Amino acid sequence: MGTGLATVAYLGAAILFIQSLGGLANQESARKGNLAGIAGMVIAVLATCFIAGVTAWNGAAWGMVLGPLVIGGAIGALLAGRVAMTAMPQLVALLHSFVGLAAVLVGISSFLGDAHNYEGAARTVHLVEIWLGVAIGSITFTGSVIAWGKLRGSLSGKPLLLPGRHLLNLLVTTTSLGLFVPFLMMSDPALAEPAMWGPITASTGMLGIMTVLTGLLGIHLVMAIGGADMPVVVSLLNSYSGWAAAAAGFMLSNDLLIVTGALVGSSGAILSYIMCEAMNRSIWNVVFGGFGTGDSKPTVQKDPSEIGEVEELAPEGVAELLEDAKRVVIIPGYGMAVARAQHLVNDMTKMLRDRNIDVRYAIHPVAGRLPGHMNVLLAEAGVPYDIVLEMDEINDDLPRTDVVLVIGANDIVNPDAQTDESSPIYGMPVLEAWKAGTVVIFKRSLGTGYAGVPNPLFFNDNSRMCFGSAGDTVRTVVENLG
Ligand code: TAP
Repeated sequence: MGTGLATVAYLGAAILFIQSLGGLANQESARKGNLAGIAGMVIAVLATCFIAGVTAWNGAAWGMVLGPLVIGGAIGALLAGRVAMTAMPQLVALLHSFVGLAAVLVGISSFLGDAHNYEGAARTVHLVEIWLGVAIGSITFTGSVIAWGKLRGSLSGKPLLLPGRHLLNLLVTTTSLGLFVPFLMMSDPALAEPAMWGPITASTGMLGIMTVLTGLLGIHLVMAIGGADMPVVVSLLNSYSGWAAAAAGFMLSNDLLIVTGALVGSSGAILSYIMCEAMNRSIWNVVFGGFGTGDSKPTVQKDPSEIGEVEELAPEGVAELLEDAKRVVIIPGYGMAVARAQHLVNDMTKMLRDRNIDVRYAIHPVAGRLPGHMNVLLAEAGVPYDIVLEMDEINDDLPRTDVVLVIGANDIVNPDAQTDESSPIYGMPVLEAWKAGTVVIFKRSLGTGYAGVPNPLFFNDNSRMCFGSAGDTVRTVVENLG
């Protein structure tokens, strides 16, 4: 078995990965997309083990491959099985840190192990690959660890805004790039390289210093980002991890790793851009951190009692209201995920549809805490795909809707995003729930959502607050419809 067969296997795996990405773009094909990704990865691992990598059929080599594969796979399966949907962003951040660390280790071992096998221009190219791979990997590793800490609440979500931070970032970046010149010159085998400290040569030292500097840059970049931008940062780190993997692919001359890394890198960058658009944030603000967080206008915090009175409606009353409606739209948000109310919401949907009431769902692009968060929950509960519509598809229909049920959502239905220039979410596209006949908001209090801003929707004449955990209130609505 040789490299020709490996190339064919890698090509097949790469096609499956592309199919997987295509499938994941749509709920109906997402399951098939996932299967295509799994099949691609199985082919890739088998091809690497049997064809390309482990050529020496001895126990030690197989132990080195199978040991980490089994132990790592078991830990991964255990973690993935136990993780709550709401803790998904921090798990993803942690997984990105592993990719970054792997790129750093591959780069350093490639330099220490096989860099002397290259000569002339090929050697320079190889050293550039190592330098870039280690730099991107180191930023990804430390940045992802900080993102993980912030998302799980071990580190403060507040942005760390050091004075002159952009200058500091620039200085570290130029120093890390500049160190490449002495690194290249010192690691020239024609020159006798001075030993710096024991077995560590000057060029190894340069590589080490650059690794530490870029690691500090990763920490600083993510520390400067506020809590509200963290999901975008996770998506950006996903992109960085892809580029780190692609760089590792160049170092190892592995075409599949290059293709896969480029797919992850570019899809992560596109997703980050889409998320920024949906939240009305500039991608550059997020990349460089700190802009638009500490520097932006202070939030005008209104006391709810100053805004007006709210009208309450008990779940029994909501059931009566729904029985009289012809058209109903449900807007799910983060609170529905927390309350795990999606199955009850689906039961309610079935009961209303059995009564010939038109029920549809309106999904905001950043509802919840992950891209596609609501779509995944609704699909899991068995809500038919054809009644789940994106914001742009349904916003114009809301004025013709009798009842809108806002279930555990807040920021994504805040009218201030359209009217109050002082609001931090001003400019973010929102679902215009207030245009419906009656809006019922299921939440526990008048408390704020992720952006930390009050919502005047609760005080509108056509708004009714159904207070309580969505799990309890929706259950009572279902019982009263039955
Ligand atoms: P939020 O604005 O965060 O509001 C969720 C609401 O759910 C809270 O106000 C909370 O009110 C309520 N809630 C919590 N637990 C509940 C329970 N057990 N039962 C009923 N309600 C409960 O959520 P959203 O409207 O989905 O908006 C998403 C936010 O996340 C946006 O600000 C968005 O920018 C941000 N974000 C999302 C993403 C992605 S990709 N999805 C990425 C970055 C940022 P009570 O405490 O009063 O119950």
